[in-house]
Amino acid sequence: MLAVIRIADLRDHLGDTITIKGWLHQKRSSGKIIFLKLRDGSGFVQGVLAKGDGSDDVFTLAQSLTQESSIIVHGVVQPDQRAKDGIELQIKDLELVALTHDYPITPKEHGVDFLMDHRHLWLRAPRQRAILKIRAEIIRAIRQFLDRQGFTQVDPPILTPSSCEGTTTLFHTSYFDEDAYLTQSGQLYMEAAAMALGRVYSFGPTFRAEKSKTRRHLIEFWMIEPEMAYVEHDESVAIQEALICAIVDHVLTHCEQELLVIGRDISKLERVKAPFPRISYDEAVTFLQSTGQEFTWGDDFGAPDETKIAEAYDRPVFIERYPTSLKAFYMKPDPNRPEVVLCADLLAPEGYGEIIGGSQRIDDPELLLKRFEEHDLPKDAYAWYLDLRTYGSVPHSGFGLGLERTVAWICGLEHVRETIPFPRLLYRLYP
Ligand code: 4AD
Ligand code: MG
Repeated sequence: MLAVIRIADLRDHLGDTITIKGWLHQKRSSGKIIFLKLRDGSGFVQGVLAKGDGSDDVFTLAQSLTQESSIIVHGVVQPDQRAKDGIELQIKDLELVALTHDYPITPKEHGVDFLMDHRHLWLRAPRQRAILKIRAEIIRAIRQFLDRQGFTQVDPPILTPSSCEGTTTLFHTSYFDEDAYLTQSGQLYMEAAAMALGRVYSFGPTFRAEKSKTRRHLIEFWMIEPEMAYVEHDESVAIQEALICAIVDHVLTHCEQELLVIGRDISKLERVKAPFPRISYDEAVTFLQSTGQEFTWGDDFGAPDETKIAEAYDRPVFIERYPTSLKAFYMKPDPNRPEVVLCADLLAPEGYGEIIGGSQRIDDPELLLKRFEEHDLPKDAYAWYLDLRTYGSVPHSGFGLGLERTVAWICGLEHVRETIPFPRLLYRLYP
Protein backbone atom coordinates (compact mmCIF):
# COMPACT_ATOMS: atom_id res chain seq x y z
CA MET A 1 0.00 0.00 0.00
CA LEU A 2 1.40 3.37 -1.02
CA ALA A 3 0.91 6.39 1.22
CA VAL A 4 -2.01 8.64 0.25
CA ILE A 5 -0.60 12.17 -0.10
CA ARG A 6 -2.52 15.43 -0.44
CA ILE A 7 -1.59 17.34 -3.58
CA ALA A 8 -0.75 20.37 -1.40
CA ASP A 9 1.96 18.29 0.31
CA LEU A 10 3.51 16.73 -2.82
CA ARG A 11 6.54 19.03 -2.61
CA ASP A 12 7.69 17.07 0.46
CA HIS A 13 7.63 13.81 -1.51
CA LEU A 14 9.87 14.43 -4.52
CA GLY A 15 11.07 11.09 -5.93
CA ASP A 16 8.56 9.07 -3.89
CA THR A 17 5.96 6.73 -5.33
CA ILE A 18 2.66 7.80 -3.80
CA THR A 19 -1.12 7.67 -4.14
CA ILE A 20 -3.54 10.53 -4.80
CA LYS A 21 -7.27 10.15 -4.27
CA GLY A 22 -9.22 12.69 -6.27
CA TRP A 23 -10.95 13.62 -9.50
CA LEU A 24 -9.96 14.26 -13.09
CA HIS A 25 -10.12 18.00 -13.71
CA GLN A 26 -8.93 18.09 -17.33
CA LYS A 27 -7.49 15.73 -19.88
CA ARG A 28 -5.18 16.40 -22.81
CA SER A 29 -3.58 13.88 -25.02
CA SER A 30 -0.95 13.97 -27.74
CA GLY A 31 -0.96 10.51 -29.25
CA LYS A 32 1.39 8.51 -27.08
CA ILE A 33 1.20 10.77 -23.98
CA ILE A 34 -1.84 11.57 -21.88
CA PHE A 35 -1.87 14.52 -19.47
CA LEU A 36 -4.35 14.18 -16.63
CA LYS A 37 -4.86 17.26 -14.52
CA LEU A 38 -5.86 15.95 -11.11
CA ARG A 39 -7.50 17.67 -8.17
CA ASP A 40 -8.07 16.36 -4.67
CA GLY A 41 -9.47 19.41 -2.90
CA SER A 42 -6.10 20.47 -1.53
CA GLY A 43 -4.78 21.50 -4.95
CA PHE A 44 -4.17 20.61 -8.57
CA VAL A 45 -1.32 18.66 -10.18
CA GLN A 46 -0.55 17.43 -13.66
CA GLY A 47 -0.19 13.68 -14.08
CA VAL A 48 1.62 12.30 -17.12
CA LEU A 49 1.19 8.88 -18.60
CA ALA A 50 3.26 7.74 -21.57
CA LYS A 51 2.22 4.69 -23.54
CA GLY A 52 4.41 1.81 -22.43
CA ASP A 53 5.09 3.35 -18.99
CA GLY A 54 2.50 1.17 -17.29
CA SER A 55 0.36 -1.64 -18.57
CA ASP A 56 -1.71 -1.21 -21.74
CA ASP A 57 -4.82 -1.46 -19.57
CA VAL A 58 -3.81 1.65 -17.64
CA PHE A 59 -3.31 3.61 -20.86
CA THR A 60 -6.69 2.46 -22.19
CA LEU A 61 -8.37 3.39 -18.91
CA ALA A 62 -6.75 6.86 -18.98
CA GLN A 63 -8.01 7.36 -22.53
CA SER A 64 -11.55 6.59 -21.45
CA LEU A 65 -11.59 8.94 -18.43
CA THR A 66 -13.93 11.91 -18.51
CA GLN A 67 -13.92 15.24 -16.72
CA GLU A 68 -14.83 14.88 -13.00
CA SER A 69 -14.49 11.10 -12.95
CA SER A 70 -13.29 10.08 -9.51
CA ILE A 71 -9.97 8.23 -9.60
CA ILE A 72 -7.15 6.93 -7.46
CA VAL A 73 -3.76 7.53 -9.00
CA HIS A 74 -0.43 5.93 -8.16
CA GLY A 75 2.75 7.54 -9.44
CA VAL A 76 6.17 9.08 -8.85
CA VAL A 77 6.48 12.72 -7.82
CA GLN A 78 8.82 14.44 -10.26
CA PRO A 79 10.27 17.93 -10.44
CA ASP A 80 9.24 19.60 -13.69
CA GLN A 81 10.37 23.03 -14.85
CA ARG A 82 7.42 23.46 -17.23
CA ALA A 83 4.72 22.72 -14.66
CA LYS A 84 3.25 25.78 -12.92
CA ASP A 85 4.23 24.69 -9.43
CA GLY A 86 7.39 22.88 -10.59
CA ILE A 87 5.99 19.40 -9.92
CA GLU A 88 4.31 16.67 -11.92
CA LEU A 89 3.25 13.12 -11.29
CA GLN A 90 4.52 10.30 -13.46
CA ILE A 91 1.54 7.98 -13.45
CA LYS A 92 2.18 4.28 -12.91
CA ASP A 93 -1.27 2.97 -12.18
CA LEU A 94 -4.90 4.14 -12.07
CA GLU A 95 -8.06 2.94 -10.33
CA LEU A 96 -11.44 4.15 -11.48
CA VAL A 97 -13.83 4.92 -8.60
CA ALA A 98 -16.73 6.30 -10.63
CA LEU A 99 -16.97 7.34 -14.25
CA THR A 100 -18.73 10.66 -14.86
CA HIS A 101 -20.99 11.14 -17.86
CA ASP A 102 -21.77 14.56 -19.35
CA TYR A 103 -20.42 16.84 -16.63
CA PRO A 104 -22.45 20.01 -17.13
CA ILE A 105 -19.70 22.57 -16.50
CA THR A 106 -17.26 22.33 -19.38
CA PRO A 107 -14.22 24.52 -20.08
CA LYS A 108 -16.39 26.68 -22.40
CA GLU A 109 -18.06 29.87 -21.11
CA HIS A 110 -21.34 29.46 -19.23
CA GLY A 111 -23.86 32.14 -18.29
CA VAL A 112 -24.22 33.19 -14.66
CA ASP A 113 -27.72 31.70 -14.26
CA PHE A 114 -26.50 28.34 -15.52
CA LEU A 115 -23.56 28.42 -13.13
CA MET A 116 -25.77 29.46 -10.22
CA ASP A 117 -28.16 26.57 -10.99
CA HIS A 118 -25.12 24.30 -10.80
CA ARG A 119 -23.51 25.97 -7.80
CA HIS A 120 -23.07 22.57 -6.13
CA LEU A 121 -20.73 21.61 -8.98
CA TRP A 122 -19.38 25.08 -9.78
CA LEU A 123 -17.65 25.04 -6.36
CA ARG A 124 -15.13 22.59 -7.86
CA ALA A 125 -13.76 25.18 -10.30
CA PRO A 126 -10.26 26.45 -9.39
CA ARG A 127 -11.50 30.02 -9.08
CA GLN A 128 -14.41 29.15 -6.79
CA ARG A 129 -12.17 26.94 -4.69
CA ALA A 130 -9.65 29.78 -4.34
CA ILE A 131 -12.37 32.21 -3.21
CA LEU A 132 -13.63 29.79 -0.56
CA LYS A 133 -10.08 29.29 0.68
CA ILE A 134 -9.62 33.05 0.99
CA ARG A 135 -12.97 33.34 2.77
CA ALA A 136 -11.79 30.74 5.30
CA GLU A 137 -8.48 32.58 5.79
CA ILE A 138 -10.32 35.89 6.33
CA ILE A 139 -12.40 34.21 9.04
CA ARG A 140 -9.24 32.79 10.59
CA ALA A 141 -7.56 36.23 10.53
CA ILE A 142 -10.58 37.82 12.24
CA ARG A 143 -10.72 35.17 14.96
CA GLN A 144 -6.98 35.36 15.58
CA PHE A 145 -7.09 39.14 15.84
CA LEU A 146 -10.06 39.22 18.22
CA ASP A 147 -8.83 36.32 20.34
CA ARG A 148 -5.45 38.04 20.77
CA GLN A 149 -7.20 41.26 21.76
CA GLY A 150 -8.99 39.50 24.61
CA PHE A 151 -12.42 39.06 23.01
CA THR A 152 -14.59 36.07 23.89
CA GLN A 153 -16.87 34.53 21.29
CA VAL A 154 -20.51 34.48 22.35
CA ASP A 155 -23.28 33.06 20.18
CA PRO A 156 -26.51 35.06 19.92
CA PRO A 157 -29.82 33.40 18.98
CA ILE A 158 -30.98 33.09 15.38
CA LEU A 159 -34.70 33.16 16.22
CA THR A 160 -35.68 36.46 17.80
CA PRO A 161 -38.90 38.12 18.99
CA SER A 162 -37.89 41.64 17.87
CA SER A 163 -35.90 43.62 15.32
CA CYS A 164 -32.46 45.24 15.54
CA GLU A 165 -32.13 46.96 12.19
CA GLY A 166 -35.64 48.20 11.42
CA THR A 167 -38.84 46.28 10.84
CA THR A 168 -38.96 46.51 7.04
CA THR A 169 -36.42 43.74 6.36
CA LEU A 170 -37.56 41.23 8.97
CA PHE A 171 -37.90 37.60 7.96
CA HIS A 172 -41.06 36.39 9.61
CA THR A 173 -41.62 32.88 10.86
CA SER A 174 -43.86 31.37 13.50
CA TYR A 175 -42.64 30.16 16.86
CA PHE A 176 -45.49 27.91 17.94
CA ASP A 177 -48.13 30.48 18.94
CA GLU A 178 -45.82 33.49 18.76
CA ASP A 179 -44.37 35.54 15.93
CA ALA A 180 -40.64 35.19 15.46
CA TYR A 181 -38.04 36.59 13.09
CA LEU A 182 -34.71 35.40 11.79
CA THR A 183 -32.02 37.57 13.29
CA GLN A 184 -30.91 40.68 11.38
CA SER A 185 -27.98 41.19 13.75
CA GLY A 186 -26.85 39.71 17.04
CA GLN A 187 -25.94 43.13 18.37
CA LEU A 188 -28.56 43.62 21.09
CA TYR A 189 -27.66 40.26 22.62
CA MET A 190 -23.97 41.03 22.31
CA GLU A 191 -24.55 44.18 24.34
CA ALA A 192 -25.89 41.97 27.13
CA ALA A 193 -22.87 39.66 26.71
CA ALA A 194 -20.42 42.59 26.81
CA MET A 195 -21.78 43.56 30.23
CA ALA A 196 -20.99 40.02 31.37
CA LEU A 197 -17.64 39.37 29.61
CA GLY A 198 -16.27 42.81 28.70
CA ARG A 199 -15.16 42.25 25.11
CA VAL A 200 -17.19 39.81 23.04
CA TYR A 201 -17.87 38.96 19.43
CA SER A 202 -20.36 36.89 17.54
CA PHE A 203 -19.89 35.25 14.18
CA GLY A 204 -22.90 33.83 12.47
CA PRO A 205 -25.52 34.07 9.75
CA THR A 206 -27.87 37.04 9.67
CA PHE A 207 -30.93 37.58 7.51
CA ARG A 208 -32.51 40.53 5.75
CA ALA A 209 -35.67 40.23 3.68
CA GLU A 210 -34.38 43.04 1.52
CA LYS A 211 -35.82 43.43 -1.96
CA SER A 212 -32.47 44.60 -3.26
CA LYS A 213 -31.05 42.96 -6.34
CA THR A 214 -27.57 44.45 -6.33
CA ARG A 215 -24.04 43.12 -6.45
CA ARG A 216 -23.65 43.88 -2.72
CA HIS A 217 -26.79 42.35 -1.21
CA LEU A 218 -27.46 38.86 0.05
CA ILE A 219 -30.59 37.74 1.87
CA GLU A 220 -28.51 35.54 4.17
CA PHE A 221 -25.05 36.82 5.03
CA TRP A 222 -22.49 36.28 7.76
CA MET A 223 -21.53 38.97 10.20
CA ILE A 224 -18.79 39.38 12.78
CA GLU A 225 -20.09 41.57 15.59
CA PRO A 226 -17.68 42.72 18.29
CA GLU A 227 -19.14 44.56 21.27
CA MET A 228 -17.04 46.25 23.95
CA ALA A 229 -17.90 47.57 27.42
CA TYR A 230 -16.20 50.81 28.46
CA VAL A 231 -15.12 51.48 24.86
CA GLU A 232 -16.17 54.76 23.25
CA HIS A 233 -16.57 55.60 19.59
CA ASP A 234 -12.96 56.63 18.79
CA GLU A 235 -11.46 53.54 20.36
CA SER A 236 -13.93 51.33 18.50
CA VAL A 237 -12.91 52.91 15.19
CA ALA A 238 -9.23 52.29 16.01
CA ILE A 239 -10.00 48.60 16.64
CA GLN A 240 -11.89 48.36 13.32
CA GLU A 241 -8.92 49.85 11.48
CA ALA A 242 -6.48 47.41 13.12
CA LEU A 243 -8.81 44.50 12.32
CA ILE A 244 -8.99 45.37 8.63
CA CYS A 245 -5.19 45.75 8.44
CA ALA A 246 -4.79 42.36 10.13
CA ILE A 247 -7.15 40.73 7.59
CA VAL A 248 -5.32 42.21 4.59
CA ASP A 249 -1.89 41.28 6.00
CA HIS A 250 -3.01 37.74 6.71
CA VAL A 251 -4.46 37.20 3.23
CA LEU A 252 -1.38 38.66 1.52
CA THR A 253 0.83 36.33 3.57
CA HIS A 254 -1.23 33.14 3.41
CA CYS A 255 -3.18 33.26 0.15
CA GLU A 256 -0.57 34.15 -2.47
CA GLN A 257 -1.50 31.16 -4.65
CA GLU A 258 -5.27 31.77 -4.42
CA LEU A 259 -4.93 35.49 -5.19
CA LEU A 260 -2.96 34.51 -8.28
CA VAL A 261 -5.66 32.04 -9.40
CA ILE A 262 -8.37 34.71 -9.20
CA GLY A 263 -6.14 37.34 -10.80
CA ARG A 264 -6.38 39.86 -7.96
CA ASP A 265 -4.30 43.05 -8.37
CA ILE A 266 -2.29 42.67 -5.16
CA SER A 267 -0.80 46.18 -5.32
CA LYS A 268 -4.25 47.54 -4.44
CA LEU A 269 -4.31 45.45 -1.25
CA GLU A 270 -0.72 46.31 -0.36
CA ARG A 271 -1.75 49.96 -0.11
CA VAL A 272 -4.19 49.18 2.69
CA LYS A 273 -2.24 50.55 5.66
CA ALA A 274 -3.26 52.53 8.74
CA PRO A 275 -4.21 55.27 9.25
CA PHE A 276 -7.41 55.16 7.19
CA PRO A 277 -8.96 58.52 6.33
CA ARG A 278 -11.84 59.54 8.61
CA ILE A 279 -14.32 62.05 7.23
CA SER A 280 -17.61 63.25 8.66
CA TYR A 281 -20.97 62.76 6.99
CA ASP A 282 -20.97 66.57 6.56
CA GLU A 283 -17.66 66.46 4.68
CA ALA A 284 -18.89 63.60 2.50
CA VAL A 285 -21.97 65.67 1.59
CA THR A 286 -19.83 68.71 0.74
CA PHE A 287 -17.59 66.47 -1.38
CA LEU A 288 -20.56 65.07 -3.35
CA GLN A 289 -21.94 68.57 -3.88
CA SER A 290 -18.52 69.74 -5.10
CA THR A 291 -18.74 67.15 -7.90
CA GLY A 292 -21.83 68.95 -9.16
CA GLN A 293 -24.24 66.44 -7.71
CA GLU A 294 -27.45 67.50 -6.01
CA PHE A 295 -27.44 66.17 -2.48
CA THR A 296 -29.34 67.42 0.58
CA TRP A 297 -28.02 67.09 4.15
CA GLY A 298 -30.10 64.34 5.76
CA ASP A 299 -30.28 62.09 2.68
CA ASP A 300 -28.69 58.66 2.81
CA PHE A 301 -25.88 57.74 0.43
CA GLY A 302 -26.79 55.41 -2.40
CA ALA A 303 -24.35 52.88 -3.80
CA PRO A 304 -23.11 55.29 -6.53
CA ASP A 305 -22.48 57.97 -3.87
CA GLU A 306 -20.50 55.55 -1.73
CA THR A 307 -18.46 54.53 -4.76
CA LYS A 308 -17.72 58.14 -5.62
CA ILE A 309 -16.54 58.90 -2.08
CA ALA A 310 -14.48 55.71 -1.81
CA GLU A 311 -12.79 56.34 -5.15
CA ALA A 312 -11.22 59.49 -3.72
CA TYR A 313 -9.02 57.26 -1.53
CA ASP A 314 -6.63 54.34 -2.04
CA ARG A 315 -7.63 52.64 1.23
CA PRO A 316 -10.84 52.15 3.20
CA VAL A 317 -12.47 55.34 4.46
CA PHE A 318 -14.55 55.90 7.62
CA ILE A 319 -17.60 58.14 7.35
CA GLU A 320 -18.56 59.32 10.81
CA ARG A 321 -21.45 61.05 12.52
CA TYR A 322 -24.45 60.44 10.28
CA PRO A 323 -27.71 62.28 10.91
CA THR A 324 -29.57 60.71 13.83
CA SER A 325 -32.67 60.36 11.65
CA LEU A 326 -30.85 58.02 9.22
CA LYS A 327 -29.55 55.54 11.73
CA ALA A 328 -30.80 52.81 14.06
CA PHE A 329 -32.59 53.57 17.35
CA TYR A 330 -29.73 52.42 19.61
CA MET A 331 -27.00 54.82 18.43
CA LYS A 332 -25.75 57.41 20.89
CA PRO A 333 -26.11 61.03 19.81
CA ASP A 334 -22.97 63.19 19.76
CA PRO A 335 -23.21 65.11 23.08
CA ASN A 336 -22.06 68.28 21.30
CA ARG A 337 -24.42 67.87 18.36
CA PRO A 338 -27.47 65.66 19.05
CA GLU A 339 -28.59 65.83 15.40
CA VAL A 340 -25.77 63.37 14.55
CA VAL A 341 -24.81 60.05 16.12
CA LEU A 342 -21.45 58.62 17.23
CA CYS A 343 -21.24 56.12 14.41
CA ALA A 344 -19.01 55.18 11.53
CA ASP A 345 -19.49 53.26 8.32
CA LEU A 346 -16.34 51.88 6.73
CA LEU A 347 -16.38 52.02 2.94
CA ALA A 348 -14.06 49.64 1.12
CA PRO A 349 -12.01 50.94 -1.81
CA GLU A 350 -12.79 50.18 -5.47
CA GLY A 351 -16.56 50.56 -5.09
CA TYR A 352 -17.24 47.61 -2.77
CA GLY A 353 -19.36 49.76 -0.48
CA GLU A 354 -19.94 49.56 3.26
CA ILE A 355 -18.12 46.65 4.86
CA ILE A 356 -18.52 47.76 8.50
CA GLY A 357 -21.32 49.57 10.30
CA GLY A 358 -20.74 50.50 13.92
CA SER A 359 -21.52 52.96 16.68
CA GLN A 360 -21.40 53.87 20.32
CA ARG A 361 -24.68 52.77 21.95
CA ILE A 362 -27.12 54.81 24.00
CA ASP A 363 -26.36 54.20 27.69
CA ASP A 364 -29.03 56.47 29.21
CA PRO A 365 -32.29 54.59 29.97
CA GLU A 366 -34.44 57.74 29.59
CA LEU A 367 -33.16 58.45 26.10
CA LEU A 368 -33.53 54.79 25.10
CA LEU A 369 -37.18 54.82 26.22
CA LYS A 370 -37.73 57.95 24.16
CA ARG A 371 -36.23 56.20 21.12
CA PHE A 372 -38.54 53.19 21.57
CA GLU A 373 -41.46 55.60 21.26
CA GLU A 374 -40.03 57.51 18.29
CA HIS A 375 -39.34 54.27 16.45
CA ASP A 376 -42.64 52.70 17.47
CA LEU A 377 -40.93 49.73 19.10
CA PRO A 378 -42.98 47.58 21.51
CA LYS A 379 -41.60 48.29 25.00
CA ASP A 380 -42.38 44.78 26.23
CA ALA A 381 -40.23 43.06 23.65
CA TYR A 382 -37.28 45.32 24.50
CA ALA A 383 -37.69 45.33 28.30
CA TRP A 384 -34.64 43.10 28.75
CA TYR A 385 -32.57 45.47 26.57
CA LEU A 386 -33.60 48.40 28.72
CA ASP A 387 -32.50 46.42 31.80
CA LEU A 388 -28.91 46.66 30.53
CA ARG A 389 -29.18 50.44 31.14
CA THR A 390 -31.02 50.07 34.43
CA TYR A 391 -28.47 47.74 35.98
CA GLY A 392 -24.88 48.96 35.69
CA SER A 393 -25.01 50.94 32.46
CA VAL A 394 -21.63 51.86 30.97
CA PRO A 395 -20.46 53.53 27.77
CA HIS A 396 -20.07 50.83 25.15
CA SER A 397 -19.58 50.43 21.42
CA GLY A 398 -19.57 47.78 18.78
CA PHE A 399 -19.69 47.11 15.09
CA GLY A 400 -20.70 44.59 12.47
CA LEU A 401 -18.37 43.48 9.68
CA GLY A 402 -20.12 41.98 6.67
CA LEU A 403 -18.07 38.92 5.74
CA GLU A 404 -19.22 38.55 2.13
CA ARG A 405 -18.63 42.18 1.20
CA THR A 406 -15.20 41.94 2.78
CA VAL A 407 -14.43 38.78 0.77
CA ALA A 408 -15.73 40.45 -2.42
CA TRP A 409 -13.41 43.40 -1.88
CA ILE A 410 -10.32 41.38 -0.89
CA CYS A 411 -10.83 39.06 -3.88
CA GLY A 412 -11.82 41.86 -6.27
CA LEU A 413 -15.06 40.11 -7.31
CA GLU A 414 -17.80 41.46 -9.50
CA HIS A 415 -20.61 40.26 -7.19
CA VAL A 416 -21.10 38.91 -3.64
CA ARG A 417 -22.74 35.76 -5.03
CA GLU A 418 -19.31 34.14 -5.45
CA THR A 419 -18.19 34.87 -1.87
CA ILE A 420 -20.45 32.35 -0.12
CA PRO A 421 -20.84 28.64 -0.96
CA PHE A 422 -24.61 28.71 -1.50
CA PRO A 423 -25.82 32.30 -1.90
CA ARG A 424 -29.37 33.24 -0.91
CA LEU A 425 -30.30 36.01 -3.30
CA LEU A 426 -33.51 37.74 -4.16
CA TYR A 427 -35.56 35.07 -5.99
CA ARG A 428 -32.87 32.39 -5.60
CA LEU A 429 -33.16 29.64 -3.02
CA TYR A 430 -31.83 26.78 -5.19
CA PRO A 431 -29.62 24.79 -4.78
O1 4AD B 1 -24.80 48.29 8.93
P1 4AD B 1 -25.50 47.07 9.41
O2 4AD B 1 -26.95 46.94 9.11
O3 4AD B 1 -25.23 47.07 10.99
C1 4AD B 1 -25.78 46.21 11.88
O4 4AD B 1 -26.45 45.25 11.65
C2 4AD B 1 -25.31 46.49 13.29
N1 4AD B 1 -26.30 45.96 14.21
C3 4AD B 1 -23.95 45.86 13.49
C4 4AD B 1 -23.38 46.12 14.84
O5 4AD B 1 -23.10 47.24 15.19
N2 4AD B 1 -23.18 45.06 15.61
O6 4AD B 1 -24.78 45.78 8.88
C5 4AD B 1 -23.41 45.57 9.15
C6 4AD B 1 -22.68 45.14 7.90
C7 4AD B 1 -22.71 46.14 6.75
O7 4AD B 1 -21.71 47.11 6.90
C8 4AD B 1 -22.49 45.25 5.55
O8 4AD B 1 -21.11 44.99 5.40
C9 4AD B 1 -23.16 43.97 5.94
O9 4AD B 1 -23.29 43.97 7.35
N3 4AD B 1 -24.48 43.85 5.32
C10 4AD B 1 -24.77 43.06 4.28
N4 4AD B 1 -23.99 42.22 3.55
C11 4AD B 1 -24.58 41.54 2.54
N5 4AD B 1 -25.88 41.63 2.22
C12 4AD B 1 -26.70 42.45 2.93
N6 4AD B 1 -28.00 42.50 2.62
C13 4AD B 1 -26.15 43.21 4.01
N7 4AD B 1 -26.65 44.09 4.90
C14 4AD B 1 -25.63 44.45 5.68
MG1 MG C 1 -25.07 49.96 7.79
